[in-house]
Amino acid sequence: MTFLFNSDAARGQVFRDAFAREIPDLPFSMDPATVDPGEVRYLMTWTVPENLARYRDLEVLFSTGAGIDQFSTASVPDDVKIVRMVEEGIVRMMQEYVVLGVLSLHRNLPAYLRQQQDEVWQVLPQAQAGERRIGVLGLGNLGQAVLERLKPFGFPLSGWSRSAREIDGVRCFSGPAGLEAMLAETDVLICLLPLTDETRGFLDARLFSQLPKGAGLIHVGRGPQLDQEALLAALDSGHISGAVIDVTDPEPLPPGHPFWRDARILLTPHIASITQPHTAARAVIDNIRRLRAGLDPIGLVDRRRGY
Ligand code: GLV
Repeated sequence: MTFLFNSDAARGQVFRDAFAREIPDLPFSMDPATVDPGEVRYLMTWTVPENLARYRDLEVLFSTGAGIDQFSTASVPDDVKIVRMVEEGIVRMMQEYVVLGVLSLHRNLPAYLRQQQDEVWQVLPQAQAGERRIGVLGLGNLGQAVLERLKPFGFPLSGWSRSAREIDGVRCFSGPAGLEAMLAETDVLICLLPLTDETRGFLDARLFSQLPKGAGLIHVGRGPQLDQEALLAALDSGHISGAVIDVTDPEPLPPGHPFWRDARILLTPHIASITQPHTAARAVIDNIRRLRAGLDPIGLVDRRRGY
């Protein structure tokens, strides 16, 4: 029984040390070339290797990241559990980034950056936090964590998810009617949805038109969820006033893409949140302990749902 780590060596070293300390009875390998494929029970990887079938006794496929949309799940046998990365390092970084994005849009940072370039000293109208309504799409562990971090600022908070949720201090919406109701009262929309067939192209012209005029967008989900043309059109018409974009399609964004030079967009190269090896190793070890105890791992993917 072996744990095969198929990712970069520096992170692997952190995992190797943690495994040796915490679960020394589980052999750990970072080398697919020398491992006996029949021994591999756990595989941690970003993408599904082409030769997955050789790991004939594989039980669990651990994603190195929070998302699993990069896995073509059809190529993973039904009895193999797929597990998303749920770890406190990713959560903390996402909280930081979303707070950065919300405060940037709230305090007109894109406009002030433009003014600085143009050597313009001019005070712009400023709404108070209590007047800036924040709406989060996706109330999984990241969505809930960013809402928690936003609470002290005093923004009215809402969240939308596919199935109904209850979160203290957050107006929760669900389903298609709930989406429309939340969008109508959202001044800064944050996308933290997983990428599935249902969320591909979710951020489109119709959705933007349901937001109040002048709303802002923070996109930290996945690139293919955003209709880029629709965003540019909404920015041009002034219906959307600014956007913070961390994920694009494709990645990297090609040279000459209109997002690069658009002063209304704050663009970052998919760095909102990155798996942190120390905390991730602890989360994976905890999950192996859960599996050994006959419990479901944290982050177990429901294949029908797609996340
Ligand atoms: C990054 O986007 C991740 O899935 O961890």
